[in-house]
Amino acid sequence: MRRILSFIAYAFVPTVINAVQISVDESASSNPVFDGYVSYSIEFSSFPEFAGNNSRPNTFSENLLGNLGKIIGTKPYIRVGGNTQDYALYNASLPYGLNGTIDPKRSSDYPTTIFIGPSFFESYNTFKNTKFIHGFNLGLGGNRTSGWQTLLDTVPLACKALGGGKLFAWTYGNEPDLFSTSAQGPVRPPSWNEAEFVDQWLNGTRKIQELLEKNCPDLAKNGTYEYIAPSFAGVGNKLKAPKAWGEGLNEDKNIKLFATHNYISGATSPGVTLQGTLMNHSMTKASVDAHIVEYDKLRRSSLARPTRYTTKADRGSQTPFGAALWGVDFNLYSASVGFKRVHMHMGTNYRYASWQPIATTKATIGTKAPYYGNIAVASFLAPPLPSSPAYSSSSSQATVKHLPIPSTPFLSAYAAYHSTTLSRLIFLNMNSYNTTASGEGLVPLPPTSLVPRPSVTFNFTLPAAYFKGKKEVVVKRLMANGSDAITGITWDAWSYNWELDEGKPVRLANVTRRSESERAWVGEGVSDGGKVGLGVVVEAGSVALVEFV
Ligand SMILES: *[C@@H]1O[C@H](CO)[C@@H](O)[C@H](O)[C@H]1NC(C)=O
Ligand SMILES: *[C@@H]1O[C@H](CO)[C@@H](O)[C@H](O)[C@H]1NC(C)=O
Ligand SMILES: *[C@@H]1O[C@H](CO)[C@@H](O)[C@H](O)[C@H]1NC(C)=O
Ligand SMILES: *[C@@H]1O[C@H](CO)[C@@H](O)[C@H](O)[C@H]1NC(C)=O
Ligand SMILES: *[C@@H]1O[C@H](CO)[C@@H](O)[C@H](O)[C@H]1NC(C)=O
Ligand SMILES: *[C@@H]1O[C@H](CO)[C@@H](O)[C@H](O)[C@H]1NC(C)=O
Ligand SMILES: *[C@@H]1O[C@H](CO)[C@@H](O)[C@H](O)[C@H]1NC(C)=O
Ligand SMILES: *[C@@H]1O[C@H](CO)[C@@H](O)[C@H](O)[C@H]1NC(C)=O
Ligand SMILES: *[C@@H]1O[C@H](CO)[C@@H](O)[C@H](O)[C@H]1NC(C)=O
Ligand SMILES: *[C@@H]1O[C@H](CO)[C@@H](O)[C@H](O)[C@H]1NC(C)=O
Ligand SMILES: *[C@@H]1O[C@H](CO)[C@@H](O)[C@H](O)[C@H]1NC(C)=O
Repeated sequence: MRRILSFIAYAFVPTVINAVQISVDESASSNPVFDGYVSYSIEFSSFPEFAGNNSRPNTFSENLLGNLGKIIGTKPYIRVGGNTQDYALYNASLPYGLNGTIDPKRSSDYPTTIFIGPSFFESYNTFKNTKFIHGFNLGLGGNRTSGWQTLLDTVPLACKALGGGKLFAWTYGNEPDLFSTSAQGPVRPPSWNEAEFVDQWLNGTRKIQELLEKNCPDLAKNGTYEYIAPSFAGVGNKLKAPKAWGEGLNEDKNIKLFATHNYISGATSPGVTLQGTLMNHSMTKASVDAHIVEYDKLRRSSLARPTRYTTKADRGSQTPFGAALWGVDFNLYSASVGFKRVHMHMGTNYRYASWQPIATTKATIGTKAPYYGNIAVASFLAPPLPSSPAYSSSSSQATVKHLPIPSTPFLSAYAAYHSTTLSRLIFLNMNSYNTTASGEGLVPLPPTSLVPRPSVTFNFTLPAAYFKGKKEVVVKRLMANGSDAITGITWDAWSYNWELDEGKPVRLANVTRRSESERAWVGEGVSDGGKVGLGVVVEAGSVALVEFV
């Protein structure tokens, strides 16, 4: 479908916002993200399910990771950890990867009694060309003998599994700022503080280094033996990161990246709604900015979880498309303020997961809405095509600029630069638009009860010279029937659904925009002080990416 988008005429004065003027710079100083910006964090207890093992590799997961790798140039980095890394004890005679027991009184989402066997580490063999972060157990490691013994037993297994360039870094303990207050059962006394944390961290990491020197000397070398830390759950918990740093957390100078976790909200927190919490740029910005205030002087990576958003409890509700829009806004805003890589957290049966890796009694196998948001982010950051004004033969990562829209919290916009030159724009319209009964994503509303889908035109100008004589830009869309949709989601008319080709891309013929990307034509011979204007129409609950070709 081709659209002529030279000068758009605005024929009426709107009562709601239906056009915004975005100010875009042609170039920006370089502050690029790291490669593999779109990365994942997989719950420790779910790793065998996401990755499979030597005899049964999970090819669905591999396909989905491969798609992102092809788009952005590097497969996602995989952090293996989470609350369950601090419950996992080693049992050398366990004949399979992981034996987890759920205690609903502690958590119904993941097991809190866990044994791993030697074949757990086979899961590090199934994703090709992938770098990993493995999490060792500090929770029980500093609490009981079996926990410490687990560290002694698993360092040799983990380091052998992660040789040959597969290791990115280690973690030791997940969210230790919550160890003495955890809702799933504390593993430290109430008095536990930063100084004791640092003592235990140094004790454990020095033991890890000693075991590496003995078992995997290649991984004990300076520049290879490194951590991401402190992996705190947030900025307002019992332990504070700056204080931990002050107590000497990085005394051994082995912390490669400062890592912090963000929870945009909790499903049970009062007042959580899709529109007010996730599809709300002000909320996202405030939540990310809080990390910046605390960690401004440090290098960063980030592990993020959306709110466990659910329309109604216990109906097997899944994350709606609106949460995928949040994912795009969160990732790009984080990139714009200096986060270098984001690992979106997920586990088996987690409502906010990008995909469900296997069929279980609680959830069907499949690609979920957030994955499509991940694809959109990767497409925005991807290296420019050779025909783009931003193309350069030396590959470089994208610099992201936030383009503020003060008039409403439900729109957001970003620019991507490669080698300081504008390569792409992305526009988010996060006004909700429902097409299913009560917004539950299950029963489509009859066409008679649907209102026409509102839209906003994102209007911007660029110097005519920027287009270097070319007369078109490409527009790609992240789309679904509504922000409440849980199926029928597409990126530029591509589906990555499991049921089509096990997660490999399939071009759909039955969506409105098909066969090739839309192209917007730049007004010929029109100039406004040497500038060319474009307007891109973005429907409520959707995203449009503009590429200069
Ligand atoms: C959109 O852009 C055109 C061309 O620059 C301009 O004439 C028009 O006023 C803009 N409209 C809005 C709402 O910004
Ligand atoms: C370790 O695994 C073996 C084999 O499954 C089992 O018999 C034993 O009870 C396990 N030990 C623990 C402590 O779970
Ligand atoms: C490999 O995975 C399959 C499927 O989950 C499982 O049945 C099998 O026990 C696993 N093998 C080992 C050695 O863990
Ligand atoms: C799995 O763990 C549970 C709980 O600790 C235990 O009762 C069971 O024996 C374990 N199974 C195996 C095969 O080790
Ligand atoms: C390190 O921690 C282990 C387990 O808690 C403990 O046995 C050991 O004494 C500690 N070492 C030092 C030097 O504190
Ligand atoms: C171990 O955890 C228990 C709670 O499970 C806690 O009461 C105790 O203080 C912890 N012990 C140490 C040494 O941290
Ligand atoms: C490791 O390398 C860094 C940077 O090259 C250096 O500052 C540090 O002293 C080295 N540490 C050791 C133990 O060699
Ligand atoms: C959006 O987030 C801001 C900042 O948290 C909040 O003040 C505002 O009420 C939210 N908007 C809605 C509609 O909930
Ligand atoms: C739209 O759907 C969302 C959930 O997807 C729900 O929270 C909201 O109440 C719905 N709005 C209407 C007007 O039904
Ligand atoms: C999307 O809406 C169309 C009607 O406009 C309907 O035919 C289709 O089934 C809907 N798709 C999903 C996944 O609900
Ligand atoms: C669109 O095509 C896909 C793949 O053939 C199919 O799964 C889906 O049900 C179709 N959607 C509609 C609304 O017909």
